[in-house]
Amino acid sequence: MSVTILAIESSCDETSCALCKDGTILSNIIATQAIHEQYGGVVPELASRAHMQNIVPVVDRALVSAGCRLGDLSAIAFTQSPGLIGSLLVGSQFAKSLALSLHIPLIAVHHMQAHVLANLIEAPRPSFPFLCLTVSGGHTQIVLCHSPHRLEVLGETMDDAAGEAFDKSAKLLGLPYPGGPLIDKHARGGNPGRFQFPEPQVGGLQFSFSGLKTAILYFLQEQKRLNPLFVEENLADICASVQHRIVSILLHKLQKASELTGIKEVCIAGGVSANSGLRQAFEITGTQQGWNIHIPRFEYCTDNAAMIAISGYYKFLAGEFSPMGVSAHARAEW
Ligand code: KG4
Ligand code: ZN
Repeated sequence: MSVTILAIESSCDETSCALCKDGTILSNIIATQAIHEQYGGVVPELASRAHMQNIVPVVDRALVSAGCRLGDLSAIAFTQSPGLIGSLLVGSQFAKSLALSLHIPLIAVHHMQAHVLANLIEAPRPSFPFLCLTVSGGHTQIVLCHSPHRLEVLGETMDDAAGEAFDKSAKLLGLPYPGGPLIDKHARGGNPGRFQFPEPQVGGLQFSFSGLKTAILYFLQEQKRLNPLFVEENLADICASVQHRIVSILLHKLQKASELTGIKEVCIAGGVSANSGLRQAFEITGTQQGWNIHIPRFEYCTDNAAMIAISGYYKFLAGEFSPMGVSAHARAEW
């Protein structure tokens, strides 16, 4: 019997629907909400409204592009948590209604676990157990993935996420939201060793990025006092130096996690794994350390429903279904 999952992701500002048949992604449609750019960050109320507008056309497109009909579906998977509650409610209510109307099971998926399992979408897949550095706008975690059903958080950020560190640094430089990709772009022509920003002294496998943000703020205030055109004249070198520091913080902890666990099967996931500096440094570190490294394709790194679909597929195989009364949560335990 073949298994076809329709999955919905709506945790933040992307409305996405994917179809997955027997573990193969057939379609992955993502509607990005441009409306937030003018506000310098995601406005929760506007995000919920945009999900309401987008969800039906996005689901329709995903079905057409996969060549599937509603009657082909075996189950509906959706992002249950964590995320913006208004946004999650749109996706979860839609998923429940669809499952109820089709008399098929519902599968609740944890967004951060799905980012990790995005590494299982395409070959070559990592073998278990593997480590995953998950870096997004809201989270920074090192996860030990024993199996698709058992994931363990070894370390996470105590304050800002890595994506926030990129976005807030970009804001200090006058770049629009989300600034992460712009720092990446400007960093390409810059000297990463020109300005030295501090590496936080945080124990174990925990991360902290708030001190870095403050260091950058004070550095820019002082430099602009001496030269009002400092940012404009040195943008590439500042971006390269900021990116270099964020990347080195991430990779030092990942290296430590590999040493502590003895695991050399290592992945990265989440929106920040699109960063070219991180990808390059990850490859270099991987070669030096003898790791087998994996990075999901770009469309599976940022928020997408394909990762919810693959997670839902493994849950389906294990019979992990959710009752129709299941609710969405802004925060979630693992
Ligand atoms: O996983 P994601 O799409 O959404 C969340 O679940 O948060 O991650 C979004 C984050 C944003 O902070 C964005 O600036 C960052 O990923 N990001 C990048 C790049 N592309 C996306 N940061 C640095 N360089 C990039 N190329
Ligand atoms: Zn995410």
